[in-house]
Amino acid sequence: MRMTKGDRTPAIKVSNLTKIYRTNAVGRSASGLSTSLNFKKFLISLFGKRTNFFTALDNISFEVPHGSIFGLLGPNGAGKTTLVKILSTLVLADGGKVFVNGFDVEKRPYRVLKELQTVLSEGFGFERRLTGRQNLEFYASLYGLGRDAAQRRIDSLLELVGLPDKGHLAYQRYSTGMARRLLVCRALLSEASVLIFDEPTSGMDPRTALDFRHMMLERLSKKEGRTIVITTHNMYEAQQVCDLIGVLDRGKLVAIGTPDEIRRMVGEKVVLSLTVGGSSIFNETRAPLLVKEVTKVHGVVNVSLTENGSSDSRAMQIEGVKDLDYSKIFSLLLNEHVKIRFIESTQPSLEDAFMYLTKKVKR
Ligand SMILES: Nc1ncnc2c1ncn2[C@@H]1O[C@H](COP(=O)(O)OP(=O)(O)OP(=O)(O)O)[C@@H](O)[C@H]1O
Ligand SMILES: [Mg+2]
Repeated sequence: MRMTKGDRTPAIKVSNLTKIYRTNAVGRSASGLSTSLNFKKFLISLFGKRTNFFTALDNISFEVPHGSIFGLLGPNGAGKTTLVKILSTLVLADGGKVFVNGFDVEKRPYRVLKELQTVLSEGFGFERRLTGRQNLEFYASLYGLGRDAAQRRIDSLLELVGLPDKGHLAYQRYSTGMARRLLVCRALLSEASVLIFDEPTSGMDPRTALDFRHMMLERLSKKEGRTIVITTHNMYEAQQVCDLIGVLDRGKLVAIGTPDEIRRMVGEKVVLSLTVGGSSIFNETRAPLLVKEVTKVHGVVNVSLTENGSSDSRAMQIEGVKDLDYSKIFSLLLNEHVKIRFIESTQPSLEDAFMYLTKKVKR
């Protein structure tokens, strides 16, 4: 079912989703389970006290609007793939509800499978001795595509992912990056309105990854209006393509927002790095003191000789808050006859926010 951006039902709606894995290996014991007392008692009554449990997803709720690209970030083991598998009907949840285009994944899994296509980071599911094209033909027949339509589609998809001349090669000759691209082709054989990619660009070289991001953004999202969910460890990728980002940490959704909103969660700090010099009256103590007086400057965090050790060249780092008026700093330094040789202004990156939101603490 093709939905459009204006549709009011979200493409994906997740409410109070919980997933608990039961393990026999080392894991979290029932007593350490972070869930409600009643549910814990219920699990213990079912499996016994000595069973190990692990809360992979803990009461997660969010919505993904139609036509948007939603990025799931989180450290290893945060629960991203588990969430993707629940969305794709591959794993059953233990609590909460998940809807894809309004269809309940638990009650109507076959309907949901018509709405979405998933590319997992594991288990590629291709036959090694068949060619890339033959593998795609097999899946095209599963999706009910007629022979001619399948050939046309496979041709255009192989072209799209940069494998136009590799379709005739046996799959066992494919490199990791080529295999990933073939997986993308497989996902695009059907016209599902929701596409889910688990770490799609891992194993791709930088140019292939760039092409993939471009295709996702320009073609699948903007042109075809599909809804896309990706998990990624690549902050640059998330910043470039995602409309909305969810940050998972140890099974909890610790933040959700646009890339800029997530970045700003670290604070509104800006850092202005300057290399200054050329003044006989430049004074290591006086300049920082003057700069510190400028509104919205928090402090001058560093004044030192630059690395090349030039006696009249110093690096300053001025920390302030957003909307800091740089011109005041510059005119003040110019009044001191300081020459400004290098300027760089940095704001918190998505990576800073990721580090901040997923701080390492003992579990
Ligand atoms: N089938 C399973 N049985 C038991 N525990 C599991 C199972 N699958 C995943 N887990 C555990 O659930 C947690 C979340 O795993 P998941 O694969 O969802 O993390 P992830 O965020 O995708 O990590 P990564 O970035 O490494 O891919 C991990 O601690 C993992 O060990
Ligand atoms: Mg994963």
